[in-house]
Amino acid sequence: MTKDKINFYDDTKHFYEDFWIGRDYEHFSEVLALRKLLNKKHFKTAMDFGGGYGRLSDVLSDYSDKVILVDPSSKQLNIAKDKFKNQDNIEYLLLDKKDYVPAKDNTVDLLLMVRVSHHVPDPTKLFKEIYRAVTPNGYAIIEVASNAHLVNRLRQYSKLKRVSKTPIRVGSVANGLKDETPFVNHNPNTIIKQLNDCGFKFEKKLSVSNFRNGFLKTHFRLDQLLRAEKITQKHLAKINFGPSIFILVKK
Ligand SMILES: C[S@@+](CC[C@H](N)C(=O)[O-])C[C@H]1O[C@@H](n2cnc3c(N)ncnc32)[C@H](O)[C@@H]1O
Repeated sequence: MTKDKINFYDDTKHFYEDFWIGRDYEHFSEVLALRKLLNKKHFKTAMDFGGGYGRLSDVLSDYSDKVILVDPSSKQLNIAKDKFKNQDNIEYLLLDKKDYVPAKDNTVDLLLMVRVSHHVPDPTKLFKEIYRAVTPNGYAIIEVASNAHLVNRLRQYSKLKRVSKTPIRVGSVANGLKDETPFVNHNPNTIIKQLNDCGFKFEKKLSVSNFRNGFLKTHFRLDQLLRAEKITQKHLAKINFGPSIFILVKK
């Protein structure tokens, strides 16, 4: 990472962990998706790339002998080290370069990248790096903050437009560091093509957090929403329904 600019996630005024307060539905929807994609698989080495404070690292550790948690934010890694201080199967690596995976060729059996692609406007170099690091027959799971979700498609159709195939810059960062930490939404079809172009074979995708809606979240219990989520993730992926798409590819 560029040392001259503050990583948003290292900023002392920003607490990524707090973002998850009140977002149990989204968190457990992602855990459901991960477990579905990893079902019956087991890996020697799994990497949680851009894993932050390790929100999903312990899920990964259920499916692997060793988890390598990689992140450019030392603040996030320190929180993770404290959180997992009694777990000896998690390693921590500070990422100090962009578009780089800190691993030798063909050594990572599974690479997980969740909520990171929205900080990478052009992921093509990073995907080539991921391909290099993943073992032959190994896997990558790439989560995409999607600009092609149904609500956005309807919004675009109402203006007689189509959703963009290229990344769309979204929102702003509360602490004013938005130029240093870009936020973009990607078109999942473009991401799948970019992964294919690197050599990955598409295996599966799931549509995640399909019922992320204030009205639904206040009128239905968490377990009800998660039951609906569980049933629909696979089917709704066919139409890129939800705001987040989990893509499983194989090398
Ligand atoms: C929204 S958090 C997601 C953390 C974790 N994957 C999760 O789902 O909770 C984004 C993380 O990506 C890291 N990050 C930002 N830009 C990155 C980049 N270009 N390469 C790798 N990681 C990056 C940040 O430091 C941060 O910890």
